[in-house]
Amino acid sequence: MGGYSGASRSGSRSVSPGMRDLAHIAQSPIRQLLALTASRSDVISLAGGLPAPEAFDVRGIGEAFAHVLATDGAAALQYSPTEGNEVLRSIFAERSRARGLAASAGTVLVTSGAQQALTLLSMVLLEPRDVVVVEAPTYLAALQCFQIAGAHIIPVSSDSDGIDIESLTEVVARERPKMLYLVPTFANPTGRSVSDARRAAIAELADRFGFWIVEDDPYSELRYAGGPQAAVGSHEGADGRSIYCGSLSKVCAPGLRLGWMHGPAKVIAAASLVKQAMDLHTSTIDQAAAAHYLQHADVDQQIGNLRSMYQLRRDAMSAALHRLLPGTEWTEPRGGMFVWLRLGWGVNTTDLLPRAIDAGVAFVPGESFYATCPDTSTLRLSFTTYHPDLIDEGIARLSGVLNVAG
Ligand SMILES: Cc1ncc(COP(=O)(O)O)c(C=O)c1O
Repeated sequence: MGGYSGASRSGSRSVSPGMRDLAHIAQSPIRQLLALTASRSDVISLAGGLPAPEAFDVRGIGEAFAHVLATDGAAALQYSPTEGNEVLRSIFAERSRARGLAASAGTVLVTSGAQQALTLLSMVLLEPRDVVVVEAPTYLAALQCFQIAGAHIIPVSSDSDGIDIESLTEVVARERPKMLYLVPTFANPTGRSVSDARRAAIAELADRFGFWIVEDDPYSELRYAGGPQAAVGSHEGADGRSIYCGSLSKVCAPGLRLGWMHGPAKVIAAASLVKQAMDLHTSTIDQAAAAHYLQHADVDQQIGNLRSMYQLRRDAMSAALHRLLPGTEWTEPRGGMFVWLRLGWGVNTTDLLPRAIDAGVAFVPGESFYATCPDTSTLRLSFTTYHPDLIDEGIARLSGVLNVAG
């Protein structure tokens, strides 16, 4: 059994009369997988991109909420400005400056997660049929935003150093895109990062061909090797052409739904206008509690602990893959949450998944991460939520399924 019906592909759903046709919007298999595996405690789910819940500072965050209610009282429960809590905007600006960006509180809009920043940017930067260039594969829910905006999405291939600059140059010269969307550091789903040289080349291309760079960066602080990299938007040529999206989801807690965008004043003003129509503002009390928490907790220490925990788990997955799936292609991520596998051998990972779930292991089939022409032999594994021994067992189960299939 398995109960997983696979990723919905374009046009596979019917359109209801009186409703907008959303049949072409990619549907995430991840929610379905999460629901399924939540009801099957025997399944080791390497599918979800969830942070480890034992790392959430439940007590510290709880105290921050109590403090805000005690000191701000009713104001913590009142409507508040669309642009966001001033202290939080300053903190997010500081985090953006740490990536080499010239940010200040005034260039930051607080959003309900980085996801809302992507939605807002799709609405303020894109007209129907505008071209958006993405890496193949890329983050599924960003593809959804661009599809909903009616954009024409053009994928460009990538390798272990990130998006291929020669192909990108050809594509931008030919297609004149409005936007390039990238997760340049420890990407979802591949775990790969764009090299510094390529970051500089991308900034130069944006300047030469006049497109926006949307840099989505939820993972850069989850680094297990090497030094920090400057944002693409900090390189020469990107000034005034790039928007940086940050998030507290992976370093603090995703349930807070707090993120931000930093960018040129006209983009921040337009995004604030649209956000006002969308939700007026991000939760007043959540922002105030997060601001208090970030000012008073030792967040660097916590990120350090997270790095140590995830590094052990990444190492366990890497060792298990070497031992149990020799000859398979996979990424060795230096950070983030994901390992990306390419099985080749004509395997279709969407077809394989029900058998894997029967065998007690889940993954995300790779096809959902492609705008077009998916490599159906790919899959994404996450190493963040299990102890090393269970990761080892999960890969052993996967290996059993693949050996039967292969
Ligand atoms: C690349 C990427 N961007 C954005 C998001 C959404 O982040 P948030 O929780 O801040 O909305 C995710 C979540 O997994 C992601 O992987």
